[in-house]
Amino acid sequence: MNKFLIFTLSVFVFTSLSVEAAVYKGQDEYVKKCVKCHKAGQAFVATKKKREWNALMKDKGLKLAEVHLESEEKSAKESHEYFESNAFDKNSKHLKDFLLEYASDSGNVPACN
Ligand code: HEC
Repeated sequence: MNKFLIFTLSVFVFTSLSVEAAVYKGQDEYVKKCVKCHKAGQAFVATKKKREWNALMKDKGLKLAEVHLESEEKSAKESHEYFESNAFDKNSKHLKDFLLEYASDSGNVPACN
């Protein structure tokens, strides 16, 4: 029983720590890659609901990449290299965690910025 309890606790602690880490990594990515164009910063994150971010970010952010790659806006061009890169592929998961964490219906308000 004791061993089981310790096991359960460590799984719980480990899981919450890695979720935290992913949100933090996603925030870092967002600040570095998105804020230069979406200047509202974290307020921009709260313009969408969890469901909307989820749709944009599923399949490694396929839809989000499309929005930028297919945009007629000249200013979107600068983002093409990033959205076509392996870095985006790799970090889209963290980015998604971050975006969902601070979506308008998440009940969370970012502590920084
Ligand atoms: C180089 C500039 C640039 C970068 C970098 C950039 N965006 Fe955008 N983004 C744009 C432009 C321009 C549009 C408008 C596209 C259109 O409407 O044609 C846009 C559109 C969007 C939209 C859809 C429009 C809306 O308001 O619903 C979302 C969501 C979005 N960007 C999120 C992000 C996220 C998240 C990142 C970082 C991973 C990012 N963008 C990086 C320029 C950028």
